Amino acid sequence: MPGARPPNRRIGPVTTLYDILVLLHLLFMAALIGGYFVAATQRSGINTVMVWGARLQLLTGLALMGVAIADDLDVNHTKLGIKLLIALAVVALAEISAGKQKRGAANPTLVHIAGVLALVNVVIAVFV
Ligand code: HEM
Repeated sequence: MPGARPPNRRIGPVTTLYDILVLLHLLFMAALIGGYFVAATQRSGINTVMVWGARLQLLTGLALMGVAIADDLDVNHTKLGIKLLIALAVVALAEISAGKQKRGAANPTLVHIAGVLALVNVVIAVFV
């Protein structure tokens, strides 16, 4: 959510916490999207990096939203609501794919839908 933090805001513990959460959010996005690129190009099925990337992306996103609301930042609730719904779908699809794969019934389509939805969330994060 670009611009959530006014540029002249004083540096304090909450700002630092928020920045650390943004850093983690970006690292887990790298894991989620990177894991998807590996799964898609190697046709190797879903991998642990993608599943954990999805879980932790959701958690850090929720934490960011919580801190932003608690700190009275200018929060775009519609944007975050849509991102939350998409992230929940990504986690659900990743979990179902991993479960199916474990039982020997891998479903590449579900992995692709999860990956594309994750990419949609990146686009929303940057452009909306
Ligand atoms: C698949 C799931 C997700 C992806 C791929 C994703 C991606 C991103 C990206 C790329 C950014 C940085 C954008 C920028 O600073 O221009 C970002 C920021 C952010 N995301 Fe997410 N996100 C996801 C889920 C969520 C969820 C579920 C929430 C909360 C409901 C959330 C809340 C936020 C917030 C508050 C920021 C603002 C950081 C700032 O101050 O700029 N994200 N997200």
